Amino acid sequence: MAKVSSLIQFLGLTTLSLAWSHTHCKAAPGSPFWPSDIEWSQLNTTLSGRLLAPSPPGAVCHPTQPDFNVLSCLAVQTGWLTSSWHADNPVSTIENNWNNDTCIPLPTYPCTGEGYPVYVVNATCANDVKLGVDFARENGVRLVVKGTGHDYLGRSVAPNSLSIWTHHLRGLDFHDSFRPQGCSPSFEIEGPAITAASGTQMLELDYEAHLRNLTIVGGGAGTVGVGGYLTGGGHSALSSTYGMAADQVLEIEIVTPGGDILIANECQHTDLFWAVRGGGGSTFGVLTSVTIKAFPSTQFNTVTALIATAPGTDAYWSVIANILSQFPSLDELGISAYTFIVTSFMSADFNITSPIDGYYGIFMLPGLHPENTSTSLEAAVKQVFADATASYPGQFVTYTNATSYPDFWGYYEPNNGPLSAGNDGLLGSRLLDKKALTENLTALAEAFKTASPLGIGAQAYLVGGRGVQNAKPRGGSNAVNSAWRKAFVHSVISVGWNPLDEKTKEEQEALLNGTYTEALRKLAPDMGAYINEAYVNEPDWQHTFWGDNYERLLEIKKKYDPWDVLWCHPCVGSEGWEVVDNVLCRV
Ligand SMILES: Cc1cc2nc3c(=O)[nH]c(=O)nc-3n(C[C@H](O)[C@H](O)[C@H](O)COP(=O)(O)OP(=O)(O)OC[C@H]3O[C@@H](n4cnc5c(N)ncnc54)[C@H](O)[C@@H]3O)c2cc1C
Ligand SMILES: *[C@@H]1O[C@H](CO)[C@@H](O)[C@H](O)[C@H]1NC(C)=O
Ligand SMILES: *[C@@H]1O[C@H](CO)[C@@H](O)[C@H](O)[C@H]1NC(C)=O
Ligand SMILES: *[C@@H]1O[C@H](CO)[C@@H](O)[C@H](O)[C@H]1NC(C)=O
Ligand SMILES: *[C@@H]1O[C@H](CO)[C@@H](O)[C@H](O)[C@H]1NC(C)=O
Ligand SMILES: *[C@@H]1O[C@H](CO)[C@@H](O)[C@H](O)[C@H]1NC(C)=O
Ligand SMILES: *[C@@H]1O[C@H](CO)[C@@H](O)[C@H](O)[C@H]1NC(C)=O
Ligand SMILES: *[C@@H]1O[C@H](CO)[C@@H](O)[C@H](O)[C@H]1NC(C)=O
Ligand SMILES: *[C@@H]1O[C@H](CO)[C@@H](O)[C@H](O)[C@H]1NC(C)=O
Ligand SMILES: *[C@@H]1O[C@H](CO)[C@@H](O)[C@H](O)[C@H]1NC(C)=O
Repeated sequence: MAKVSSLIQFLGLTTLSLAWSHTHCKAAPGSPFWPSDIEWSQLNTTLSGRLLAPSPPGAVCHPTQPDFNVLSCLAVQTGWLTSSWHADNPVSTIENNWNNDTCIPLPTYPCTGEGYPVYVVNATCANDVKLGVDFARENGVRLVVKGTGHDYLGRSVAPNSLSIWTHHLRGLDFHDSFRPQGCSPSFEIEGPAITAASGTQMLELDYEAHLRNLTIVGGGAGTVGVGGYLTGGGHSALSSTYGMAADQVLEIEIVTPGGDILIANECQHTDLFWAVRGGGGSTFGVLTSVTIKAFPSTQFNTVTALIATAPGTDAYWSVIANILSQFPSLDELGISAYTFIVTSFMSADFNITSPIDGYYGIFMLPGLHPENTSTSLEAAVKQVFADATASYPGQFVTYTNATSYPDFWGYYEPNNGPLSAGNDGLLGSRLLDKKALTENLTALAEAFKTASPLGIGAQAYLVGGRGVQNAKPRGGSNAVNSAWRKAFVHSVISVGWNPLDEKTKEEQEALLNGTYTEALRKLAPDMGAYINEAYVNEPDWQHTFWGDNYERLLEIKKKYDPWDVLWCHPCVGSEGWEVVDNVLCRV
């Protein structure tokens, strides 16, 4: 190989510079390598007309744009604030900053649409996906994959790209037991399973499972799609019972960057099967369907809880630390939780009309055993609160409200949304193990105090623990961050700013990374973070998101995608490229 390349170099600059610029940067409109209109139109023909060239969704609000329309604009402005509207749109994302605020649906902002893909394959089957992938590979066009556009790291949208939109890949199949393709005829995975096309969203999956007295390990928001959720790992109210969503996967159908439509499972293409379950979205291929394990429904118990104190109470942070330190014990009792640590907090839900320093959230307990009731759950939560506040009589008010639902869906249906969208923002996060939560409560209190922006606070999700530690992914293991296997808490911080307010964005991002997230990194230096809900420019992202799985993931990426057809940041194998003036180029 070395000889061939030095020969090419010797042979002359003209050939070299042509070949070089084609492989140096991905094609962009206006560059000589961008496919001609005729070539795009041929792609459209092979796709039976399923190629879209959408104008930016906010364009209808801009008098300078050809499709300006006052009525459509009102509809877009309303939809913009909900996650489901963005999921139903071919290119939109729930956070504005991922299209670089290039067409906010308000006429006072500019609208260039530069942050959006140029073309979209509105895929309805694996072959549509394959045609898009082949075209991108053969023409050096940047390729992205959009399911719902919910990604907090902007991985589902890019300028100057072709996008594969998986939303209309539909279909659900239920199985009493499942035999992965290519396994021996006598091999059967016992128990219920569901095959879901990759356009499936959580609400639909949960609902259809519920109709059959089944439940799944599914995400908090009804509009999240299986594609990004499962490939990132996927935590759930039920992950501390059954493991991560990626741990439930029995088989996938995937279109590889090379254009092969493969079925991967524990018997065939086992490396790909391992990598896709946790190794991240839009990296190893485009998932077209996935088969997951389902569980018999059980009763589902919840307790809504609140602790409040006067703003500035000295004891507040040590009470918070004490509560968090009891999370591993709550986990042992079968309890999971989504909780929020917020100073200077007001809430209509809790009838709090002047600021308090608060801690609130929902604690959950599936009724797997007769003694696991809303009463036993409430008793456990009350005990935690009593222990934490015992040294500070009269300073803290607590509130709990226990409810029992016939199944998970009973809780999920009224509590999965509607979710707000249309903001500019970033997340930071850290997975916390038992050591971080129990060893030094002074350090724990200080870390959360530093990590919590006033009035916004930090989130502490008890979604790791037993289920994730004891999970038995098919084939022995998967690519889920090894830090998850030690984690009890996934702690999340968010910051926001107004569109195009670069100064505030820079300030907020610096605080998010350098202060808030850094405090949690220091608290748990040998842990990591959850790729789907994390700071996009996390230092040493390779090991922060994938721990000691990274090197194997990189090998598998190189094997299946030597062309880097799929690229996103911070995704496995993305090191060799950078975005320069909206064009993706080799470093
Ligand atoms: C309101 C809200 C609530 C959330 N709650 C939870 C939660 O409870 N638990 C949890 O674990 N996470 C949660 N998340 C995070 C969620 O897992 C991520 O946002 C995830 O990336 C969403 O996947 P998506 O397919 O819906 O989104 P997209 O933005 O469409 O995709 C995300 C990533 O996956 C890729 N991708 C999507 N589909 C495919 C496919 N078919 N094949 C290959 N790659 C694909 C995209 O290219 C992108 O890289 C939540 C997010 C939001 C916005
Ligand atoms: C693709 O073809 C369909 C049907 O002919 C047409 O409606 C659509 O506008 C075409 N897409 C593009 C990007 O030209
Ligand atoms: C995003 O927009 C800002 C302001 O218009 C511009 O300066 C910057 O170059 C843009 N960045 C990208 C990546 O397009
Ligand atoms: C995408 O395809 C689906 C299924 O055929 C269709 O219902 C939908 O209208 C298409 N979307 C767009 C924006 O063309
Ligand atoms: C679900 O369980 C209920 C109550 O036990 C039962 O009546 C119903 O027939 C079950 N439905 C299915 C589809 O099994
Ligand atoms: C909220 O609290 C106020 C003052 O304590 C009380 O008057 C009011 O009834 C409460 N509202 C609700 C909805 O509980
Ligand atoms: C749930 O049941 C298990 C098994 O019996 C028991 O160990 C645990 O303490 C129970 N937890 C609660 C909160 O009821
Ligand atoms: C307790 O929670 C249930 C379910 O969310 C709700 O319907 C009920 O109103 C709550 N009770 C009180 C006293 O807030
Ligand atoms: C606990 O953490 C605090 C604050 O970081 C530190 O000062 C103290 O030395 C630690 N204690 C122990 C025993 O490590
Ligand atoms: C984020 O913070 C870390 C630790 O302080 C620092 O090393 C890194 O450079 C920061 N990253 C960015 C993008 O500012």
